[in-house]
Amino acid sequence: MYTEEEIKKAAKDIVGAEKIVALTGAGISTESGIPDFRGTDGLWTKYDPDDFTYSKFLQDPAKYWKMSLELGELLLSLEPKPNLAHLALARLEELGKLRCVITQNVDGLHQVAGNTEVIEFHGNLRRVVCIACGERFPHDLAMEKASNGELPPRCDKCKGILKPDAVLFEEPIPRYALDRSLEEARNCDLMIVVGTSAVVYPAAELPRIAKERDGYHASFFGLYQPRRVMDYKKGAKVIEINAEPTPLTGIVSDYLIEGKAGEILPKILKEVERLLGF
Ligand code: APR
Repeated sequence: MYTEEEIKKAAKDIVGAEKIVALTGAGISTESGIPDFRGTDGLWTKYDPDDFTYSKFLQDPAKYWKMSLELGELLLSLEPKPNLAHLALARLEELGKLRCVITQNVDGLHQVAGNTEVIEFHGNLRRVVCIACGERFPHDLAMEKASNGELPPRCDKCKGILKPDAVLFEEPIPRYALDRSLEEARNCDLMIVVGTSAVVYPAAELPRIAKERDGYHASFFGLYQPRRVMDYKKGAKVIEINAEPTPLTGIVSDYLIEGKAGEILPKILKEVERLLGF
């Protein structure tokens, strides 16, 4: 459980940093009612992640849509709203104390909360994409087609099959998101990692890249480029805010503030505003 000293320390680190980046995972949305994947009662305790691979989608897109209709109904029926953790990150951006949020989440809640610089590392469930021509449409359009029995829903433009615009296992990370996230991780002086189990790559590599500030970490690109010595600068500070320790804890992150993001982030924000004289 976290302490007031940890809250004060994080606030001081934020005020003292110039280029701050947040990396978020499903744990920041659980207080909005959206289950995470690997926490207790996570989605992977109810669904088999192997069913959410790109090859499974191609084998039987209709079955995928039936499953995602069910899951989509569940999630969208919750009409998830940003919680205090999302709102705290949006306020940090307003204060000029957050350059961007790199999120693994596909719920779009950071944008709803007010963050304008959001890198969607795993895409966004509120859109669908045609796997033939690449055209994108709002998710509701596809859900309407699917609930009217058009399974799988097809593209209005070319009749290709529509797929939720969230990155499935086996799919590559969108190039823009990959490049931009690497750039931000390499250049930040503080990374706040919130609500992620840090077990899915390459997202989980970003805190290490921030820490080591080498940017060419072999496992990120699956290749090794020699580190240019003059590029090697002191690494960023990495703060973890999570309900439990992760593989980053004590190795990559400087410290873990253990507990609920919806409680911890607003307290840190309040202390940051006090230090900034608000
Ligand atoms: N506050 C802080 N941490 C929380 C909270 C909370 N309210 N609720 C849950 N957590 C923690 C959990 O303890 C867990 O460590 O958040 C973490 C969520 O981890 P995962 O469920 O694995 O989610 P994530 O890390 O985002 O998964 C990464 O895996 O399945 C894929 O594509 C999917 O983007 C996802 C990726």
